[in-house]
Amino acid sequence: MKIVFCAPAIDAQPWVARLAQAIPEAQVWPWSPAIASREADYALVWSPDDAFFAGQHRLRAVFNMGAGVDRLLGLPGLPHEVPLFRLDDAGKAQQMAEYVCHALIDHARHFDGFAAQQRAGLWRELAVEGRTAFPVGVMGLGSIGARVAQAVASFGYPVLGWSRSRKLIAGVESRAGPDEFDAFLHATRVLVCVLPLTAQTDGIVNAASLRKLKAGAYVINVGRSAHVVDADLLAQIEVGHVAGAALDVFDTEPLPGGHVFWRHPNIRVTPHIAANTGLDASIDQITAKIRAIERGEVPSGRVDFGRGY
Ligand code: GLV
Repeated sequence: MKIVFCAPAIDAQPWVARLAQAIPEAQVWPWSPAIASREADYALVWSPDDAFFAGQHRLRAVFNMGAGVDRLLGLPGLPHEVPLFRLDDAGKAQQMAEYVCHALIDHARHFDGFAAQQRAGLWRELAVEGRTAFPVGVMGLGSIGARVAQAVASFGYPVLGWSRSRKLIAGVESRAGPDEFDAFLHATRVLVCVLPLTAQTDGIVNAASLRKLKAGAYVINVGRSAHVVDADLLAQIEVGHVAGAALDVFDTEPLPGGHVFWRHPNIRVTPHIAANTGLDASIDQITAKIRAIERGEVPSGRVDFGRGY
């Protein structure tokens, strides 16, 4: 069995070593232009080189080393006849849940305000609204979104979820499809985006959708930057309908030095760290999927090219 690894932004060595250890019968190598025509049965990729797929004609499956496949689907030459799998969870769901709960509680309990007060040497209580004043709407209820929604619900916040099809998750009110989107927004104060980026979800957090949120809304984006129309978010903060946002993803990463988000008092910026792709969990998951394919089974996490995730 032959496995090639192509993720220019990631140090290949530990991944190749762990994979070779997990599947001892496999030959595993890091891709480079000099050996681009060396063909593999399986490929592990993250934002691969444009030339990568041109040299691969016998792939049995491609594994995306992340949850989002939007960048990969835009790559010219990606073979649509080869099954593509994304990481289902691989430790990301728990991290996303931590990020979202932290951002939500930081905002709702004014911990951000207390930190500012400490810097000013100020001992003063700030009035806090109860949890029921912060209904949380989670957009996207896949393996990651579902975990996020459950974690938020466990803190006693009212939680709604919006997804393509209706989902049954304890403690989460499910809204589904375009017909129920407005009702979802009207009932939401803290909007959390965990959606995959597709033609349908591009720009979904815009002036129209933000205006439908409850007054004093808050936005937490751990999906992709293109989900949020930045100018619309800033305008809604400016007029006071949206109180602020916690953003982990940006159009240009790293976020350019002079960008308005850096110094905006109502916007929290983190450098795309909401959920890292853990090496061990990912290798375990990909190994299990390769073994399943070798047994003639179809593993979970297969990307539907038509749907876009
Ligand atoms: C990270 O952004 C991912 O898609 O996993």
